[in-house]
Amino acid sequence: MGSLLKAENISKEYVSGTFIKKRNLALKPVSFSIDDKTPSITAIAGESGSGKTTFARVLAGILKKSSGVLRFKDKDLDYMTKDEELNFKKDVQTIFQDPFEVYNPFYKVDHVLTTPLKKFGMASSKSESDEMIISALEEVGLRPDETLGRYPHQLSGGQRQRIMVARAFLLRPKIIIADEPVSMVDASLRATILEELKNLRKNHGISIIYITHDLTTAYQVADNIMVLYRGQVVEAGSVENVINNPAHPYTKLLTDCIPKPDPDQKWSKTSGDITIQSRIIKGCDCAFCNQSNDKESFREIYEFKKNQIVSCKLSKKMKLCADKDISKYFIKPKK
Ligand SMILES: Nc1ncnc2c1ncn2[C@@H]1O[C@H](COP(=O)(O)OP(=O)(O)OP(=O)(O)O)[C@@H](O)[C@H]1O
Ligand SMILES: [Mg+2]
Repeated sequence: MGSLLKAENISKEYVSGTFIKKRNLALKPVSFSIDDKTPSITAIAGESGSGKTTFARVLAGILKKSSGVLRFKDKDLDYMTKDEELNFKKDVQTIFQDPFEVYNPFYKVDHVLTTPLKKFGMASSKSESDEMIISALEEVGLRPDETLGRYPHQLSGGQRQRIMVARAFLLRPKIIIADEPVSMVDASLRATILEELKNLRKNHGISIIYITHDLTTAYQVADNIMVLYRGQVVEAGSVENVINNPAHPYTKLLTDCIPKPDPDQKWSKTSGDITIQSRIIKGCDCAFCNQSNDKESFREIYEFKKNQIVSCKLSKKMKLCADKDISKYFIKPKK
């Protein structure tokens, strides 16, 4: 069994400041891979500032990692030929939170769709390019006559974001990394876009990394989840296990913040707001996390139960995971 994308101990440290250098290890060493046979949806969840976007951008090769090795189809990204790199950029597409970052207000939206097709030489003629664009738009439930030929500001936020999904799909990638793709759209559209992502996996075999601060949507779409806390994956496994029976104190806090449908249960003071809670506990009440001096070192992962791992000193009594690749403890989604 091979892997499409394989991250071995990758980390990211931001260094800022001219005279006095400030270092921020925003992503602590993590090993993770995406299977090349069974397409899957993996959520990366955590509060604001936990390192989700950093993780996403490092995996997409947009941001240079500080350590570790990233391989795509067994090729080290650092030693790829130009052609291999182009192939990687075609096969790993991204969708970002704010589609305005991608749109140029002076161009019609068609531009964001024709440009990648040209860049990767995907269409041999204008009519083939048009056909591909129309089918990608229809795939995400958009009507081409209502979207093409318009400027970005003439579309709704939901339409702009769905064009981003169509754009990612257009190149028939193997992986889509979607960073908070629904955080700027309303609840009804959120469900639609998430359904479209699920269909891309089911109908086209595309693996998806879905980044969110919202555990409810992670539960809806993902097969597996990684919970990030201050740049550290503190818990991971099948969404069923991690969300219904969290092992790490931080995941417990996050799941406590999911609003409960039970009418008799009062909302807690912090319902829905995961940032307030984690500020109160100042570094999660797990003993290991409070060891701030230890932040550079690689943390061990422990098997909490089948398809669920935890990275926490409190779990030392548990079985140490022999394989550092977190995805080895994930469930394989049914095809
Ligand atoms: N370019 C940068 N230079 C320095 N520090 C950065 C940079 N980008 C992010 N950071 C820091 O790295 C940490 C992780 O940021 P990141 O954007 O990855 O978090 P996030 O989980 O995506 O947050 P959000 O949910 O708000 O999008 C934060 O402390 C942030 O301030
Ligand atoms: Mg982010």
